[in-house]
Amino acid sequence: MGPIGVFDSGFGGLTVLKRIVKKLPQYDYVYLGDNARTPYGTRSFETVYNYTLQAVQWFFDQGCPLVILACNTASAKALRTIQQHDLPLHFPDKKVLGVIRPTSEKIGLISKTGKVGVLGTTGTVKSESYIVEIQKFYPQLKVYQEACPMWVPLIENMEQDTVGADYFIQKNLENLLRQDPSIDTILLACTHYPLIQRKIELLLPAEIKVIEQGHIVADSLADYLIRHTEVEMLCTQNNSLQFFTTDSKLDFNKYGSIFFDAEVQSKQVDLGQDLKK
Ligand code: DGL
Repeated sequence: MGPIGVFDSGFGGLTVLKRIVKKLPQYDYVYLGDNARTPYGTRSFETVYNYTLQAVQWFFDQGCPLVILACNTASAKALRTIQQHDLPLHFPDKKVLGVIRPTSEKIGLISKTGKVGVLGTTGTVKSESYIVEIQKFYPQLKVYQEACPMWVPLIENMEQDTVGADYFIQKNLENLLRQDPSIDTILLACTHYPLIQRKIELLLPAEIKVIEQGHIVADSLADYLIRHTEVEMLCTQNNSLQFFTTDSKLDFNKYGSIFFDAEVQSKQVDLGQDLKK
């Protein structure tokens, strides 16, 4: 038995953890941000897979029976191999879930025009995971994508409220809407983006809905735990929260609180070091 693990390449997954804790406060949670190696969005499939697998193994060492990849890039590039190869071979009793499938399952219910825009990292967009997953649930839905490679670095460096950031945000939104002006729903398919949601909404026509996935993932986890009692009974329940980062804990405490909307006290871990033990 142990806590539920929540992982992201950096701070972004805290926007998901915040929603999960609100929905399911009774459980214990361990958050790990791989801040030392963020961003993942521009890295190769192999690199994202290797980094994510290291993190997942670290969570299992902490006793987590279930790990949520609260990172679209890791979900797009590493989840399937971990679920289909690594878990059955090395960790048959453990579970790893991502954020793309639950989000895809819900997004089609929101659009009225049947045209949805997906904003994500280059890795998420190139993987076409959203196109494939949304197609499974809503074959009629038209999905348009736009990669925003500058957004995560700007947000991780707290540069989102600058003229430089405005330039890139505006440019990417224009590129997306140019593909089809009747898009009426835009999914923030990166867990960092809720930090600039307000800014995005102000730049878009009022009738376009901007969707943050934290709520969707939290609802889906609640549903999963009801349907999988064999996993739920392994998740300890003492309302505890622990935060870990692979980079400076002082920086994580300072900036993490902005993403989590509450105080964050973290410890530093070295994933490479821990693996050698
Ligand atoms: N929050 C991650 C996501 O949802 C950011 C990925 C990155 O590090 O570029 O994709």
